[in-house]
Amino acid sequence: MCGIVGIVGRKPVSERLVEGLERLEYRGYDSAGIATIFEGELHRRRTEGKLVNLKARLKKEPLSGNVGIAHTRWATHGAPTECNAHPHFADGVAVVHNGIIENFSELKDGLAEVGAKFTTDTDTEVIAHLLTKFRRDGMGRLEAMHAMLKCVKGAFALAILFEDDPATIMVARNGPPLVIGHGDGEMFLGSDAIALAPFTNDITYLNDGDWAVLGETGVQVFDTEGKVVTRPRQISIATADLIGKGDHRHFMEKEIYEQPEAIARALAYYINANDNDLTTISTDIGFATVESLAISACGTAYLAGLIGKYWFERYARLMVEIDVASEFRYREIPLSPRSAALFISQSGETADTLASLRYCKAQGLRIGAVVNTRESTIAREADAIFPILAGPEIGVASTKAFTCQLAVLAALAIGAGKARGTITNDEEQGLVKSLVALPRLMRQVLNDIKPKIEHLSRELSNSRDVIYLGRGTSFPLAMEGALKLKEVSYIHAEGYAAGELKHGPIALIDQNMPVIVVAPHDRFFDKTASNIQEVAARGGRIILITDEMGASISKLPTMHTIVLPNVDEIIAPMIFSLPLQLLAYQTAVVMGRDVDQPRNLAKSVTVE
Ligand code: AGP
Repeated sequence: MCGIVGIVGRKPVSERLVEGLERLEYRGYDSAGIATIFEGELHRRRTEGKLVNLKARLKKEPLSGNVGIAHTRWATHGAPTECNAHPHFADGVAVVHNGIIENFSELKDGLAEVGAKFTTDTDTEVIAHLLTKFRRDGMGRLEAMHAMLKCVKGAFALAILFEDDPATIMVARNGPPLVIGHGDGEMFLGSDAIALAPFTNDITYLNDGDWAVLGETGVQVFDTEGKVVTRPRQISIATADLIGKGDHRHFMEKEIYEQPEAIARALAYYINANDNDLTTISTDIGFATVESLAISACGTAYLAGLIGKYWFERYARLMVEIDVASEFRYREIPLSPRSAALFISQSGETADTLASLRYCKAQGLRIGAVVNTRESTIAREADAIFPILAGPEIGVASTKAFTCQLAVLAALAIGAGKARGTITNDEEQGLVKSLVALPRLMRQVLNDIKPKIEHLSRELSNSRDVIYLGRGTSFPLAMEGALKLKEVSYIHAEGYAAGELKHGPIALIDQNMPVIVVAPHDRFFDKTASNIQEVAARGGRIILITDEMGASISKLPTMHTIVLPNVDEIIAPMIFSLPLQLLAYQTAVVMGRDVDQPRNLAKSVTVE
């Protein structure tokens, strides 16, 4: 996902533009660039690779100017080269863009026919040439901007400089978010509030279809018809210190260790700890009467939803239809308008998840959004927002957002059971009591398991493939453990239902194959113990993650055992996530990987 920053004011902008881009590095990118207007002329610097290369270029060839735009690019159309890096120029115009222009090839053909000379393989360049054409046709800046927005189709966040007006930046939003920051005699823009945190937390979110003109004294916002509109100002929580690494080596490590307080914050929103029951907040989408529940998300958020499915079915007796959003959105599932749908997304901007939400909305379902970013598009299009309150998650590999999603889904499932009368008050109080104990138990586990994990990660770092096994809610958790490992260490890993072992995967087992078994001592333990015997009988190297009860039951033929506290079934997924996250993190560190920005990955996938 690309990142955009812009500043217009009375002071030089170059260094602060790069500082804003640094706050957006977590989104993933493969080239970067900056443009300013100085002494009536557009200037730019662009480099391949990380920001360190752009900073070196700017040190050698500084950029002056009190107005500028900057960009980190995650390549969609065109290789990650300097030539394809933003900002893109045409005569008198500079453009940076996040998203995809779906009709760019027909626009490109039309512009080429009237003499436009294209120098890149990107979709973005057509925007610069369109604006140049409209200006040549005699339009002013505002008219040209409005005319261009009528021509382009697709998802975009744009920031534009016109060389003949060094006092303004033009912006537009249709899909990927764009935030305006209010400063003192200067104005800012960024892809999210995190980018602006070093400069201001006084922000305005643009709506889809909005476009605007930023000058040093303020912003004028227009809707799709060109009518002046006002958007509310708010105070962002993403302050600069909130998004530092503290004394951790990586954001991922910081966010793993932040989980106890993040979970405590999330639970406080849903649970009335004095009476050990739930606040009414958790039945907003009419859980009491809905016929069934659809859940859709991507990646780790999907796996959280898969665990949530077990809970909604068990405690609320609700049928759950769940799928990854990239499949869900095209299946044309015959959903009843008497059903509800939950969409889980840390960023709230994932394109496939948003498309699935819109499909369900069109079918008349009540829509709930389990999100970390309340101003996000998914949150704004839902009927009810269920915030996870994890705080900004910078590491590309999702950790605290995952366990906070689980905590919120557990609260919603219990709330749904209460609303439907499928659990008694005593059961509700018992389940809530288990949730309330989570922060303490997570803190205890994080303190206890570190040495064991460090030892194990050194062994795991030599593996080519790893299999994770689990049953019940430990099955999606096994898949999440595999996803974490492959995301940050690049070791191939797969999560499987332990009961599926004999239906194929057991053919993979030999002495080179570590098998990580996620097995709290729950009602599936004995069956999983037999799977462990089957693996051991074929020379498989077993790493068992269990609890004190499981560890004491019998001497299973494991190579290593990580022992966690005995915990209630409803909180086992959150507790057992911790060793899986730390194992992936530590293994990646041992292997010298770029832990916070793994290769090819973006923090939020805002394109299909
Ligand atoms: C998780 O570690 C990954 N970064 C990825 O699978 C992520 O969960 C997925 O892209 C969904 O993102 P979202 O929660 O912002 O929608």
